[in-house]
Amino acid sequence: MALYSDKVMDHFRNPRNVGTIENADGVGEVGNAKCGDIMTMYLKIDDDVITDVKFETFGCGSAIASSSMATEMIKGKPVSEALTVTNKAVAEALDGLPAHKMHCSVLAEEAIKAALKDYYDKNGIAYDPELFPGESCAHCEH
Ligand code: FES
Repeated sequence: MALYSDKVMDHFRNPRNVGTIENADGVGEVGNAKCGDIMTMYLKIDDDVITDVKFETFGCGSAIASSSMATEMIKGKPVSEALTVTNKAVAEALDGLPAHKMHCSVLAEEAIKAALKDYYDKNGIAYDPELFPGESCAHCEH
């Protein structure tokens, strides 16, 4: 079996929603200290719906594929739904990632959450702090 699924290769070679959004309603930058990869997610939010999303990822192919897939999963969705996207869901949508690359999908989940937290903070919206369990990443065992 090939190490990477066709979907991973497709999203790596033709990433969707690459770029930045000027005056984004929420921006989230996360990184993995061990591999050094960095991901930034930009959200445009209208009436609590994510109307546009872009990303920049300086990292490995799996991180690029994960962020690309994650943007497709949250575009057009309510904020509450985007908050439930997990790294496992991103990896499954990519038809799986090799075990040692799962942490790359974690970056995508964290980038979405960081951008949504930024949106909440900027707009003074109250939220349950447990939704955002801090900056440190327990998953990064890379
Ligand atoms: Fe670290 Fe992929 S995000 S190797």
